[in-house]
Amino acid sequence: MTVREIFETMEYGPAPESAEAALAWLDAHGRRFAPAGAEVFETRNPATGDLLAEVAQGSAADVDAAVAAARAAFPAWAAMPGHRRARILYAMARLLQKHARTLAVLETLDTGKPIRESRDADLPLAARHFYYHAGMAQLMAEELPDRQAIGVCGQIIPWNFPLLMLAWKVAPALAMGNTVVLKPAEWTPLTALYFAQIAAEAGLPEGVLTILTGDGTTGAALAAHPGVDKVAFTGSTEVGRAIRRATAGQGKALTLELGGKSAFILAEDADLDSAIEGLVESIWFNGGQVCCAGSRLIVQEGIAGEVHDRLRARMATLRVGDPLDKSIDLGSLADPAHHARVAAMIAGTAGEVFAPPCVLPEGGAHMAPVLISGLEPADPLMQQEIFGPVLVSTTYRTPAEAVAIANATRYGLAASVWSESLGAALDMAAGLEAGVIWVNGANMFDAAAGFGGLRESGFGREGGWEGLRAYTRPKQEAPALAAGAPVAKPQAARAPDLDRTAKFRIGGKQARPDGGQSRAVWATDGRLLGHAGIGSRKDIRNAVEAARAARPGWEKAGGALRAQVLYFLAENLSARAGEFAAGLVAQTGAPAAEAAAEVEAALERLFTWAAWADKQDGAVKPVPGKVVAAMLHRPAGVIGMALPEAPVLLGLVSVLAPALATGNACVVLAAESAPLIAAEFGQVLDTSDVPGGVVNMISGDPAVLMPEMARHADLEAVWCFCGQDLSGPVEEGAAGNLKRSWCPRGMDWSRANAAEFLAAATETRTLWLPYGA
Ligand code: NAI
Repeated sequence: MTVREIFETMEYGPAPESAEAALAWLDAHGRRFAPAGAEVFETRNPATGDLLAEVAQGSAADVDAAVAAARAAFPAWAAMPGHRRARILYAMARLLQKHARTLAVLETLDTGKPIRESRDADLPLAARHFYYHAGMAQLMAEELPDRQAIGVCGQIIPWNFPLLMLAWKVAPALAMGNTVVLKPAEWTPLTALYFAQIAAEAGLPEGVLTILTGDGTTGAALAAHPGVDKVAFTGSTEVGRAIRRATAGQGKALTLELGGKSAFILAEDADLDSAIEGLVESIWFNGGQVCCAGSRLIVQEGIAGEVHDRLRARMATLRVGDPLDKSIDLGSLADPAHHARVAAMIAGTAGEVFAPPCVLPEGGAHMAPVLISGLEPADPLMQQEIFGPVLVSTTYRTPAEAVAIANATRYGLAASVWSESLGAALDMAAGLEAGVIWVNGANMFDAAAGFGGLRESGFGREGGWEGLRAYTRPKQEAPALAAGAPVAKPQAARAPDLDRTAKFRIGGKQARPDGGQSRAVWATDGRLLGHAGIGSRKDIRNAVEAARAARPGWEKAGGALRAQVLYFLAENLSARAGEFAAGLVAQTGAPAAEAAAEVEAALERLFTWAAWADKQDGAVKPVPGKVVAAMLHRPAGVIGMALPEAPVLLGLVSVLAPALATGNACVVLAAESAPLIAAEFGQVLDTSDVPGGVVNMISGDPAVLMPEMARHADLEAVWCFCGQDLSGPVEEGAAGNLKRSWCPRGMDWSRANAAEFLAAATETRTLWLPYGA
């Protein structure tokens, strides 16, 4: 017998990790985490069905008490010098490392994930998050001098990475001086409860972090609680949408990290050995119960047969079994109910199903790895998140087709591209609509690199400097936005000097309002200045269509060209400065000197944004290992915006110019109080080489039109500066396709507010480029 034959015929012996310490910890708590008499639920080991503990079902009163404790603890915690907070976060990181083995086992008992993963991925990454954010607490005063903590954060996390998701949420929140009420998922509350003990041991003051156990009703009560200033959620898109609706109009900050159906593009010139291992890692890590799992294989036609053959052979070697066994690849799914959900989803598929023969342990929620090939891109299994060990596969011919198939989903979380031609891989990567893209790699994460999605995968980033934005707010309260209303018809109306009807601008052309309605626009001195159209849903639809068509070209034009266009725009505005100043005097009643100063300020603001057009840098993140993790900025997309009512011209430029500078196309609702100024500005756009369709302008009632814009499925973002508080209907409407919404209550127009506008007008994407062996 050769050595090779010996290796091939050897059976795996069991290599179980001891559960003793974790079970002893549960026993020490009497296997119960609830006050006497409280309603409880059971948490079980999904691999065996064994009862692990009973845990309190948080009631509305418990939510009240937890939020009140967080409120009470907030002032002192936020005021504590960053260095002291840093020491506590550092202590938490150290304690996570010291308790790593027990925590890894506890995590595996509660989730069914292989101990190899909880030990080698979940725990080290969780500790790394606390180390990294200890540093952020340390640097906050110096590096973020204008920012402060938001207040009380309600954080709701899922069951696939219970401790790691806790770390992702808790570490940045505490670092920036917020207090936290965290609700773990009902299937997996144990490591969070253990962490409460670690936090106390690390010296975290009482009330700064409360672990509140319970199910979705507890989560819903927490998210909607009036004492919560910021909600951070990771979980399903459906619940994320429900939270967006439930918190609409409450003035809460919100970040959502939701589901995905991430593409794994495999080109025929890829290194197939590496790619197959990457694919195994991508889809069978944590049994596919990963929001960014590479669950959609899109393989180039010529190699599809070979890839499927190799994959089937590799799948046959994956070991499914006791999650505590150190040589197991797939443990149990997180709950029998989830097992049933996954099984039901794939039952009766039209695709070709392969699952290697394997003996599954009895009594658990185990599932063998599954490959379903031969599916059309539109098949429900190619579109819906399965969240289990199921890979679906389709083929492509050209790189452009691969990108089109990859983007043909409602999600936009992650993607992985495999090709030995770096140029081809990067070209595909550039076309992918995803917040995280790995080139010749998969599942790379680090606290220094932002993680988060686009589209219905949610908004906001976790990790890096960009992740901190969600946990801070400006120190200086901005002046409230001015509310505006059309100047009322004067009693002694005077004949117009020249009656003008301001048309809409759609797709670079003038357009009449679809409903044919318009209203008179009066000057403050009683003159009839003209008429402004009253827009409707149909006008918005036309404007969005035009913006969508113009968007790719405007992005592709690049920052340098956009800078030139904005300078040119300033030049053309300057040539008509007198006219605009006169318009402001007539429509707003401003004194002539003030109006002239506003035009001057608008010109300067245009220069600011022309300057920014080619200066919003990306960053290379200091992540461990041989990999470049690049943070890139891309335009948010098509933005619908209600312009500020005052200052009319400066406000218009301050809102529109950043969107243009960063490559977005816009649907603009003019200020109600002075719609003719926007219409005249439209003429300046015409003479300034802004391509038709990049700026589309309509006018009408914001209370009617902004909720319509918010509901429109083809807008990526909606901004509301009109001064009426429309955050309720706008945020509610935005829940439909989970677009980003921005309804600030105040803004200081004397400044460009560059950081805020740059963040709102762009999406960050993290591109991971591993190199070397
Ligand atoms: P889920 O989204 O219902 O649960 C996540 C968390 O939200 C849990 O803590 C839960 O108690 C809480 N929750 C539930 N309803 C709530 C509400 N109305 N308001 C506030 N909090 C609420 O996830 P579920 O139902 O367990 O899984 C369903 C599917 O969601 C999975 O099959 C998978 O497709 C997806 N999912 C995605 C995750 C991700 O990381 N993106 C994580 C978990 C699930």
